[in-house]
Amino acid sequence: MLSHLLHRAGIESVIVEARSREYCEGRIRAGVLEHGTVDLLNATGLGERMMREGLVHGGIYMRFGGKNHHLDFAELTGKRIMVYGQHEVVKDLIAARLKDGGQILFESSDVSIERFDTAQPSIRFRDAAGNAQRLTCDFIAGCDGFHGICRPSIPEGVFTFYDRIYPFAWLGILADAPPVCEELIYSNTERGFALFSQRSPTVQRYYLQCRPDEDINEWPDERIWHELQARLEGEDAPQLAEGVITQKGVTAMRSFVTEPMQYGRLFLAGDSAHIVPPTGAKGMNLAIADVVAFARGLERYYRDGSMTTLDGYSEYVLNRVWKAERFSWWMTSMLHRFDDQNPFDRKVQLAELDYITSSRAGAQSLAENYVGFPMT
Ligand code: PHB
Repeated sequence: MLSHLLHRAGIESVIVEARSREYCEGRIRAGVLEHGTVDLLNATGLGERMMREGLVHGGIYMRFGGKNHHLDFAELTGKRIMVYGQHEVVKDLIAARLKDGGQILFESSDVSIERFDTAQPSIRFRDAAGNAQRLTCDFIAGCDGFHGICRPSIPEGVFTFYDRIYPFAWLGILADAPPVCEELIYSNTERGFALFSQRSPTVQRYYLQCRPDEDINEWPDERIWHELQARLEGEDAPQLAEGVITQKGVTAMRSFVTEPMQYGRLFLAGDSAHIVPPTGAKGMNLAIADVVAFARGLERYYRDGSMTTLDGYSEYVLNRVWKAERFSWWMTSMLHRFDDQNPFDRKVQLAELDYITSSRAGAQSLAENYVGFPMT
């Protein structure tokens, strides 16, 4: 996205990518686009397939106490969300970059960055053919994820890290089946949390709260279907349509923030600087908001030589990051089963769920955060 935005502003960039194109395009991640992300994709010529294949949702269901409770985002905020897989956005972005002559160096290895505390940083790596390369540039964008090399390349003591690890994970599946409901269901039950999301009218994405060290081999398909149905228990229990499970995986849950997000001419964006648990569906939306701000700073720099906007990058984006961190932590806390929860904690959790589904103020607060703050 950063490379695409820079290209539109007439600024050259090179993407050094460790993985293959097939890997990037097939890697399943979350699937909810905020209102502002949808607008940005449309405004920058990337929205065509999304508008054709994506699912526009006007709200979500919160399920607890054996009943569905609807949150009508369209009515509460005037905005809707788009259900469209992150890897579909990645496919559209790769196609657009390659069509516009962009450089994506897939399958690069042995990447290291240097001299980013000077005006001429460089990146060393081996290209797909195994040849050693060195790229000299004006700026490095560290968009290489939580496990990437950029954040750890910064000298010790410069950054402060904030961190929370949750005592559970999500077991996620993709299944060829019709949806259980027209919108997403976030379900809080005594057995644990479940999320019923979608990918298309014929492909569903479902999740079950599980142990962080859960062994996927202990989850044959029948056990998954049985547990999903059990986490829809209650009066108006929707009946799940089962189907062929085409993908299974366990996702860890963690909150993490790096402050600041800049060191010299190295700027971190997305998961390299911050991660959120998937409960608020904020990960990709936050990464996109980061690069919109970074691209704006670079445009100013190349227009009039001023570093002012770039120097304000961290402070500007961290404001949004912390709002999303709070929201994802709060949704996670409200919806999951905590093994150390005492009866008082459980009652408070249920009172909170009741509040956000029965009070307009409560519902509006959740809705405003879920559809996303404007990308200004
Ligand atoms: C997904 O569809 O993968 C998804 C949707 C909503 C979430 C998390 C994941 O909160």
